[in-house]
Amino acid sequence: MATQKLAVPPLSSVLNLFDFEAVARRVLTPNAWAYYSSGADDELTLRENHSAFHRIWFRPRVLRNVRDVRLETVFLGSPTKLPIYITATALGKLGHPQGEVALTRAAGTRGIVQMMPTLASCSLDEMMDAAVPGQSQWFQLYVNPNRELTRKIVQHAEARGCKGLFITVDAPALGHREKDMRTKFEIDAPKVQGSVSERTQGAARAISGFIDPTLDWDDIRWFRSITKMPIALKGIQTAEDALLAHQHGIDAIVLSNHGGRQLDTSRSAIEILVEVMSALEHEGIVGKMEVYVDGGFKRGSDIVKALALGATGVGIGRPFLYAMSGYGQEGVERALDLLKDEMEMVMRMLGARSLKELTRSMVITKDLTTHAGVSIRDNLSEQIYEPLAYTSVDPAKLPASKL
Ligand code: FNR
Repeated sequence: MATQKLAVPPLSSVLNLFDFEAVARRVLTPNAWAYYSSGADDELTLRENHSAFHRIWFRPRVLRNVRDVRLETVFLGSPTKLPIYITATALGKLGHPQGEVALTRAAGTRGIVQMMPTLASCSLDEMMDAAVPGQSQWFQLYVNPNRELTRKIVQHAEARGCKGLFITVDAPALGHREKDMRTKFEIDAPKVQGSVSERTQGAARAISGFIDPTLDWDDIRWFRSITKMPIALKGIQTAEDALLAHQHGIDAIVLSNHGGRQLDTSRSAIEILVEVMSALEHEGIVGKMEVYVDGGFKRGSDIVKALALGATGVGIGRPFLYAMSGYGQEGVERALDLLKDEMEMVMRMLGARSLKELTRSMVITKDLTTHAGVSIRDNLSEQIYEPLAYTSVDPAKLPASKL
């Protein structure tokens, strides 16, 4: 549980999503901070997810009467006020006593979609009961080898009115999140998928042991047979798999490396987007399948870049967890308001009044795939590496031959 007693700066003084992260780092317990903030191995993908945006530059257009800028769009048939959604992140109660329900309520007041995690601290019913009428929620699924249990969970989500099933496909094994693995898992696990087997290697290992590594393209047909919800695959990382998803009749894909928590040195989500959109264009199937992207989005400009590159929408994880950890529902609402302001400002200066007017020609991506010469700090090895020890020598003590 977070130590909410620590004084936090007034919410009005928080001006961007990085400020929330700084506050969260102070208010969260060391275990909660380790679970939320960790990435896999050397955390190179974690950092690349955000730094990749620094290699995309704008080509703004002018004289376009940008007094009114509109950010509304439609995600899987549901209207949304902003082109972003709160993505699935497990264990919300590590950050705030209300857990994911605080995220549900903030999504409700701001008119956006929440993707609810299988491994939420709150039950699906609690999250759905906290929604306002008309609010859209999606369900993220980790597939259990016990398909009967999986069927029950999926059909319950559908019966409760979920508007999309997002099957996570990038976790056939769990990434080594070493910051998290050094901690003990000391709270109650989410109840839906059976018991905790291992508590000594962090939160992720404690709660994710059940995930089925045999999951395969052939299973898609079975999912289609048990639900009428639109089906999305979360964790696509190549054009080849995006095309396969389309061939299997998938409604949407989420281009994601799981926030850098799975395969380290896999590419940034935004770099994958460029590859995938160009493949969809080549096949003449742009618009036939919705394309979401998540990982490293922290600024309105990051989001606008993804939309200009053809994304249907953008998922955001940690920044909302951090906002919730410091300030609960109100924090998440402020995070959304800040992103909205940033997006509107960027769109005005780019010369785009609506998402439709954001075009590929407004961004330059030629440096995005260039990894040579781009340095992502290798924090872990930099801290641990010790250069050759060198002690200065008093020349007076050196033998005459060495002088
Ligand atoms: C996640 N993510 C995740 N994904 C998923 O499919 N099921 C899950 O249970 C979780 N749990 C989870 C916990 C925490 C603490 C984090 C940070 C992330 C991945 C998540 O949905 C999303 O892909 C990333 O968080 C996006 O990156 P950013 O926005 O956190 O940089």
